[in-house]
Amino acid sequence: MNISDKIKYIGVDDTTIDLFESQYAVPEGVSYNSYVILDDKTAIMDTVDKRGMKDWENNLLNTLDGKNADYVIVQHMEPDHAGSLARLIELFPEITVVGNAKTFVMINQFFENINIKNSLTVKEGDTLNLGSHTLTFVMAPMVHWPEVMVTYESSEKVLFSADGFGKFGALSLTENADWACEARRYYFNIVGKYGAPVQTLLKKASALDIKTICPLHGPVLSDNLGYYLDLYNTWSSYQPESKGVFIAYASIHGNTAYAAEQFAEMLRNKGVENVVITDLSRCDIAEAVEDAFRYDRMVLAAASYDAGVFPIMQDFLHHLQAKAFQNRTVGLIENGSWAPTAAKTMRNILETMKNITIVEPVVTIKSVLKETDIPALEQLADAIK
Ligand SMILES: Cc1cc2nc3c(=O)[nH]c(=O)nc-3n(C[C@H](O)[C@H](O)[C@H](O)COP(=O)(O)O)c2cc1C
Ligand SMILES: [Fe+2]
Ligand SMILES: [Fe+2]
Repeated sequence: MNISDKIKYIGVDDTTIDLFESQYAVPEGVSYNSYVILDDKTAIMDTVDKRGMKDWENNLLNTLDGKNADYVIVQHMEPDHAGSLARLIELFPEITVVGNAKTFVMINQFFENINIKNSLTVKEGDTLNLGSHTLTFVMAPMVHWPEVMVTYESSEKVLFSADGFGKFGALSLTENADWACEARRYYFNIVGKYGAPVQTLLKKASALDIKTICPLHGPVLSDNLGYYLDLYNTWSSYQPESKGVFIAYASIHGNTAYAAEQFAEMLRNKGVENVVITDLSRCDIAEAVEDAFRYDRMVLAAASYDAGVFPIMQDFLHHLQAKAFQNRTVGLIENGSWAPTAAKTMRNILETMKNITIVEPVVTIKSVLKETDIPALEQLADAIK
């Protein structure tokens, strides 16, 4: 894959990884992207995870085709991108490593005995001329690590965006896949907490004339860039993307699940268009986090458990809390067989989050949904529909 005559893709697909970052299911794998700019001086934009080092090295040497590697730009030190940096320096001991002050601290942490002969420390707005290509470095601290920077190449108007605009899925397996679905799951779970730094970066990006975005995971983006930038603006400002009600339930013996299903039917019958329901015990939690952020309303239904809430719901709420979940309307349904405590426990966690509106009434079911519970469920449905 070529970005242009002079900008080449040298990344690799990882189709055998079990869990990305040891927690995210990636049934279609993931790509570690890396690029080479061929000019009077050559520049390598990031390396790849050690898991793909051999293939990447082949891609690099084939693409350089005997040329020297002059610069490596280290935009992000996470091992899925900087994992092959030491190998690169073994291959090209004279290469100039380009990073910011924080990058070099991390390089020395990750690679104890690395021998960098040539380095260039850059800061906001610094430029590096390669011949006909010029790189400008734009700091992006906490998107989503402190050393992150992105790079703008002005002659071809390419933004190398680090993990920004990244997506799960190996390129070879997801050629025709919808972008937003897995980009959204990636964004909220990995970057979600850092909405404000992403907003800052988007403001800086809006001053640039961008034709192509080259992220470190997923496809290169070149058409209709406004679509991707708008989604990133929505996501990073914690605004809901879609109107709809996301119902997440945590049920031990199935009765809370049944109540949640009945509630979903009720909402559909009242004309709510998007009603999405999930079983937190069995779904991918990262997918549930994605849906919680995606829709403007959420209903949580959970069994009480040891004077608290069924742990899988507690775990889900802690995930949302860790990702700075905010600005949403939430309804609560609890179940309990002797002293229901699920709603209070959920409310306590929700109250630590910014701008969460809990809709009344909170519905309490005793063991099994009964005819007598229907009016309260109807009231909740009317309040959130
Ligand atoms: C280990 C365990 C602890 C529970 N703790 C409570 C509790 O503290 N208070 C309560 O009212 N019900 C408690 N329950 C009962 C559940 O809330 C019960 O399963 C629920 O009322 C029925 O809904 P379900 O079919 O969705 O599980 C507990 C159940 C289990 C298995
Ligand atoms: Fe990262
Ligand atoms: Fe990454």
